[in-house]
Amino acid sequence: MTLVPEHPWIRVRDLPNHVGETVTLRGWVRNHRSSGKIHFIEVRDGSGIVQVVCGKWDCDEETFAQAGTLTQESSVEIVGEVREDKRSSLGVEMGLSSLKIYHLAESYPITKKEHGVAFLMDHRHLWLRSRRQQAVMRVRHTIVKAIRDFFDDRGYYLMDSPILTPAACEGTTTLFPVEYFGSEAYLSQSGQLYQEATAMAFSKTYCFGPTFRAEKSKTRRHLTEFWMVEPEMAFFDIEDDMNEAEAFICHIVERVLETNRSDLEELERDLTALEATTPPFPRVHYDEAIEILQKLGSEIEWGSDFGGNDETILTQQYDRPIIVHHFPTAIKAFYMKQQPDRPELTCSMDVLAPEGYGEIIGGGERETNLDTLQEAIKHHGLDMSVFEWYLDLRRYGSVPHAGFGLGLERTVSWICGLKHVRETIPFPRMLEKMVP
Ligand code: 4AD
Ligand code: MG
Repeated sequence: MTLVPEHPWIRVRDLPNHVGETVTLRGWVRNHRSSGKIHFIEVRDGSGIVQVVCGKWDCDEETFAQAGTLTQESSVEIVGEVREDKRSSLGVEMGLSSLKIYHLAESYPITKKEHGVAFLMDHRHLWLRSRRQQAVMRVRHTIVKAIRDFFDDRGYYLMDSPILTPAACEGTTTLFPVEYFGSEAYLSQSGQLYQEATAMAFSKTYCFGPTFRAEKSKTRRHLTEFWMVEPEMAFFDIEDDMNEAEAFICHIVERVLETNRSDLEELERDLTALEATTPPFPRVHYDEAIEILQKLGSEIEWGSDFGGNDETILTQQYDRPIIVHHFPTAIKAFYMKQQPDRPELTCSMDVLAPEGYGEIIGGGERETNLDTLQEAIKHHGLDMSVFEWYLDLRRYGSVPHAGFGLGLERTVSWICGLKHVRETIPFPRMLEKMVP
């Protein structure tokens, strides 16, 4: 048995390359209207939407009658001719000479009327079939590919970091514990520490996978499970790190603008900020960022971390992403390199997206001084014994090195112009969201 059809199976997005040919279309009915003599059937297959036009005289009576029974989300296989149609955004429509109905769908819960977010989130498994969600997922797909290409083309090796880990990388307040054969492990908050090891083995490496944080706050920027790509580079300092992050973001945005024009249109994305995403990104020292924020009316004091609001206010001052650097040591993770002449600051940086989106990248240069690092681990109340292997990296051929992590969902959210990260991943995990 095989399901290979007699006429070639063409995905919707490729139909314009087959004008005049008879092809097989497979997908789901989005919409169906009929004038009595002609059926207009909108079919979606995830790559796009095409209108199938079936006149009474184009097929036999039984087929025409069957076409009349199609409900929203029924699954079909249609054989027909691809015809030019200048009025449609796809540029083509299809005729119908034969129809196979795989399944006549029951009354579909997501209709044309407006639904609340809670309802849609509960039906996420179906919501993914709607136009906007499909556009977002296609942009996400492009971004993932652009990320991989950027590093692969620059001599980085992909080194997967483990998901089950014995140690906290990003602080102990957001750990997800897992029972591990009688002892406790945690879901990884970040693959960074392992990338530092692989960078000492391969010079430039990256990991790209799911990371987990028990975020107890409900915000539009936080998921409990999110995807992060983390490059780590030996012989890089904080300046090199910022330059690489800048080139990386530009590469991603450029690729989406090249590949997903129609999706961005579907999302009614204003392209100005995306098109402005070219180097150089303004570099703003933490000291200066505090001054700017205070002038703009924020109550933030030197030494504090930015709140979501501060990031919003600050980024609204610029037309493209900015890089804020040299955050205070007191608010950063234990591994951050202290600035030699101002140890109260770290050689750290965040890339903040414009239009109020805020932090999409966090990173910096890593501490290489063994004593300082041991002090920092103690100071953060972490268990030294699970970091011994990490300290070895400072004992055997230690070099200056730096890296960063880019949050995939925040990046998708910004590029698509979405209000909330929950729409940027197929099945979001949040404080109160585990199902579906
Ligand atoms: O700034 P963060 O915490 O940095 C690290 O984890 C470093 N170890 C990365 C490194 O240097 N290798 O997180 C990096 C990025 C953030 O800028 C943000 O985009 C994203 O991860 N992120 C989240 N995205 C969604 N939901 C959350 N709860 C997130 N927490 C961080
Ligand atoms: Mg951060």
